[in-house]
Amino acid sequence: MFVPGRIVPAPAVVESHDDATPFRLAEESRIVARGPGAAAVAETFAARVRAATGFELPVVDGEPAASDLAFVVADGEAPAGAAEGYALEAGDGGVRVAADTAEGLFRGTQSLRQLLPAEIERADAASAPTHGWTVPATSIADAPRFAYRGVMLDVARHVFPVEDVLDLIDRIALLKLNVLHLHLTDDQGWRLEIESWPALTRIGASTSVGGAGGGFYTKDDYRRIVAHAAERFVTIVPEIDLPGHTNAALSAYPELTCDGVAPAPYEGVEVGFSSLCASPERAEATDRFLADVTREVAELTPGPWLHLGGDESLATSAEDYLDLVRRIAAAGAATGKTVIGWHEMGASTELPPGTVGQYWSFVEPEADAAALTRSFVEQGGRVIMSPADVAYLDMRYADDPPGPLGRRLGQGWAKGPTTLEEAYLWDPASIVPGVGEREVLGVVAPVWTETITAMSEVEFMLFPRVAAIAEVGWSPAGPRDVDGFVDRVAALGRHLDALGAEVHRLRGVPWRA
Ligand code: ACM
Repeated sequence: MFVPGRIVPAPAVVESHDDATPFRLAEESRIVARGPGAAAVAETFAARVRAATGFELPVVDGEPAASDLAFVVADGEAPAGAAEGYALEAGDGGVRVAADTAEGLFRGTQSLRQLLPAEIERADAASAPTHGWTVPATSIADAPRFAYRGVMLDVARHVFPVEDVLDLIDRIALLKLNVLHLHLTDDQGWRLEIESWPALTRIGASTSVGGAGGGFYTKDDYRRIVAHAAERFVTIVPEIDLPGHTNAALSAYPELTCDGVAPAPYEGVEVGFSSLCASPERAEATDRFLADVTREVAELTPGPWLHLGGDESLATSAEDYLDLVRRIAAAGAATGKTVIGWHEMGASTELPPGTVGQYWSFVEPEADAAALTRSFVEQGGRVIMSPADVAYLDMRYADDPPGPLGRRLGQGWAKGPTTLEEAYLWDPASIVPGVGEREVLGVVAPVWTETITAMSEVEFMLFPRVAAIAEVGWSPAGPRDVDGFVDRVAALGRHLDALGAEVHRLRGVPWRA
């Protein structure tokens, strides 16, 4: 059993020295930054602390004093050399956060953020909290269990303003999540500008579910999202969902349909009726579309991954599906990126080596989901776990509360409501036989937005349950202490409140004002 302290996700090793004198951040405190990338991480951290405290907090070279924070990047600092690992020491001699990489240092500063009073999240210079800007005397040696930990946001059923996406990135970074997967296209909307196929957005972005209007991200919008995420060591994983879930694309380009007739834009919620066309008469247009779209998306993507969908292609024959998936995945791989597909894509035995599968069946795998998922491993790839009955955070809460805009939110198809405990008590490496610790790349909590129309509603569904998914992805395997987790979620809630995030006040969590 590990001792979690007060941080979410629980660090691998943490000792609270309760009777030792805490560190006290003061007017004269500085950040002494040393090593590659340390100064940039220090600036990101300092910007927050300056806004909250009014302190100058200069980022400097030199020898740290007892009132200073030392941020160090150097070989041999992280536990076991883990890329995202870090060590943190806090006490009356100062604070030292150290890692082998700038990324590890950044993760360490998220623990430091949670060790400070929650007022540290406030953007306006607030009066100091009662006990001052203290950090309890603590020793941490930490590294993640899985490398890929994220949230998936469906911007196709409803689209969200860029500023809201930037805030969401900052909020999930607090939980040491390192991926935001954007589900950019679906039947109801195409949300990313593609210059070589301009009608994808001119026509395909005109609708959302329920007549909410349209919208899309220009390339400059998207670059802003990618850059803001990169500063927080979050990778944006773009998803273009193919060959099904393509009504928006087909409505813009009839040459992609088998009958040559553009379907009307779609505002409903049922899916499984649209498909790219596998027919040889459409091969030129379809392959040009695949090459152009994957190239333009890859050009916007510094990260290694390109998600190309593959789920619920119910209007594609089995034979056409295999043909299209082979061409889709080959187009993706030709950009130099590693392709990710929902687990159905494992039906193909012609995936580019290393293609990653994303599992979205249940904790008890249904039908052929386990075999389809193992197929990625058999082809040299790994697996992202998103079991829908515990990790789909658009599933309703058990108390079915009205959301922040007064509407009831969420779906029930994945075995009904999902509680905080259900989101917490599952093990990614024990679901699909043959997909164990080494084969699991990570975990993702999707939020599909059929019923969700604003970022406040997205956050209401995520917080607090996404804390459970973050801990499943980061913290060591082993027995889970639900009571301790719930206490730490209450502490996290104060930080989220101070950030202005929307948090559902679930009963059973000892929320503090
Ligand atoms: C999915 O939920 N269709 C991946």
